[in-house]
Amino acid sequence: MDRYGRGMTTAPFPDLRLRRTRRTGWSRAMVRETQLSPSNLIWPLFVCPGTGVEQPVASLPGVSRWSVDAIVARAKEAAAAGIPCVALFPYTEAERRTEDGHEALNPDNLMCRATAAIKDALGDAIGVLTDVALDPYTSHGQDGLVDDAGYVLNDETVEVLVGQALVQARAGTDIIAPSDMMDGRIGAIREALEVEGFGHVQIMSYAAKYASAFYGPFRDAVGSRGILKGDKKTYQMDPANVEEALREVAMDLAEGADSVMVKPGLPYLDVVRAVKECFAVPVYAYQVSGEYAMIEAAAAAGAGDRDALVLETLLAFRRAGASGVLSYHALHAARLLNG
Ligand code: PBG
Repeated sequence: MDRYGRGMTTAPFPDLRLRRTRRTGWSRAMVRETQLSPSNLIWPLFVCPGTGVEQPVASLPGVSRWSVDAIVARAKEAAAAGIPCVALFPYTEAERRTEDGHEALNPDNLMCRATAAIKDALGDAIGVLTDVALDPYTSHGQDGLVDDAGYVLNDETVEVLVGQALVQARAGTDIIAPSDMMDGRIGAIREALEVEGFGHVQIMSYAAKYASAFYGPFRDAVGSRGILKGDKKTYQMDPANVEEALREVAMDLAEGADSVMVKPGLPYLDVVRAVKECFAVPVYAYQVSGEYAMIEAAAAAGAGDRDALVLETLLAFRRAGASGVLSYHALHAARLLNG
């Protein structure tokens, strides 16, 4: 028998009654095939300037941007709930955005300050994952440098991404997460980390990242929405492709990625499963902003119970083979799981 049951032999009804083991809670617990715990969750957080600041994100009800001091408090809550890692994204004001996104290389930028502050306060009680890509810093909202025609340049962008990864490593990040989809950036970042004495810093590659309609609220949160011209289809993947996702993963692993990510999440569980079956490596999935907003909208419309929707979708990622899930519901879910 294979894992899909082909070649399975079963006793005929009524010798086999599959409802027998479903009859009671203790019995369902005994035969449960998949576990979800707070250690499977990564909580994305948006950092904004100032002190004592909370800015709710309109298109993500329940999600806010927080100033660095408040981010530290959020990280403490996450650690206390058993979440092993937070993922940081910056909100960059329009006046700090430039054509080349050079704020990404500022060792004193919001990402670096938030990273250092969390590490100062919490040490190894929680991991910090930092995003590498230029979109929060560019005046055009693309993830890389663009030529006169607006085409995102690969090799020139990779050079900047290496610099961005190094300022984050110097600030104390634990995991570099390139979300830019340039070719060859994992190898270039890995080599620079080794040369600069950051051999212990992990790389979680956004290996299979699709050009998706589910990122809208995130672009709001980082301040990119109004300014992004066009789309990201010349570098992010076509939602129609899965073989290409396997090539992306193979390439990033060969270049030294420690783990890989599939993004978005729920509409791409087949990709999570395919990656897990092809490569014996940790696979993560990103339940992205549009997915979060859909669950919140469904719950607000009375179409389902919010807590049940949250836990069922997160469990589905685990069943598909994900080691963990980045989710804006992470803290809420961890608290539910902790009872
Ligand atoms: C950009 C980036 C995006 C997200 C994470 N990093 C958006 C994009 O590619 O435009 C989306 C996350 C989400 O929607 O929650 N480097």
